[in-house]
Amino acid sequence: MANGERVIPFSTKEEIREQQFKQVWLEELDDVFADVARYYDRANHVASLGLWNWFRNRFISTMDVQSGQRMLDVCAGTNAIGITLLKKHPDLQVHAIDRSKAMQAVGQESARKLGMDIDSTIGDVHSLPFPDNHFDIVTLQYASRHLRIMDVCCEIKRTLKPGGHFYHCDMLRPANKIVESSYYAYLRLCLNFTALLFRSSSSAHGCKEYFINALRMFYSADEFSDLLRDVGFEEVSSQTLLVGMIGHHRGMKPLDTSSPDGDHEQDQRTLCHEPRHDGGLQPARCERP
Ligand SMILES: C[S@@+](CC[C@H](N)C(=O)[O-])C[C@H]1O[C@@H](n2cnc3c(N)ncnc32)[C@H](O)[C@@H]1O
Repeated sequence: MANGERVIPFSTKEEIREQQFKQVWLEELDDVFADVARYYDRANHVASLGLWNWFRNRFISTMDVQSGQRMLDVCAGTNAIGITLLKKHPDLQVHAIDRSKAMQAVGQESARKLGMDIDSTIGDVHSLPFPDNHFDIVTLQYASRHLRIMDVCCEIKRTLKPGGHFYHCDMLRPANKIVESSYYAYLRLCLNFTALLFRSSSSAHGCKEYFINALRMFYSADEFSDLLRDVGFEEVSSQTLLVGMIGHHRGMKPLDTSSPDGDHEQDQRTLCHEPRHDGGLQPARCERP
């Protein structure tokens, strides 16, 4: 849907998503991924009917990556993106951030076995502990539905160098209603099957409906493109797989000439992340450049 036709502003939709899912995001997801870490990659192979690596390679093929660049994988999980990119560009400087120690432990072990070095940070991605204008590339795959994504996109933009690219991949809400309901039915089947197959913990069992509801409340591919433009990314483009079930987006941080002293980026960080009394963060108020 084009910007002018949108019924609810993104900031309002983000507040609704946060209200709806705050408890799961803050109190339950860490336990889920602590359990899921041991079988995350295998479960996704099963659920995707063997297409998991193909999906990732399609996403990677949308990226322009140069050797020696500095990249950050946000919500890196088991480091699948970093490892795949390092296989193609061994002198890439890869940083990973994720809140789950268990997911990163699996990812670090996989990288170590391949003789790769990935710099790992454990932390919440709503505030990225990296300087402004620091990365050439930032990636985010299969985690946006668990985040106040507009806030995180602001942070990603802050840490990207002007002209740097953000690459995003996630399961999206298909625009077609028939595809959408079939999708949820298939996901429900997969979640039940993999939970049984891998003997998921009670926390992972308890979150099965959350995963569907989070997708139901998420964005279509066109909406997500508009969200990226609202945050201030330029040259936004997207492609979808499986009739809109999976979306790949890319956006560029503008070559900003408006702040010769660099203060603009710091101001933007302040706008995006005002501390709240309950320990959370205010909704994003990213300024467009
Ligand atoms: C579905 S996994 C995706 C992992 C990886 N990006 C991939 O493509 O396989 C979601 C990841 O997001 C992480 N995550 C969720 N919310 C987070 C937050 N607020 N801060 C940091 N990591 C978070 C989880 O710990 C988990 O590792």
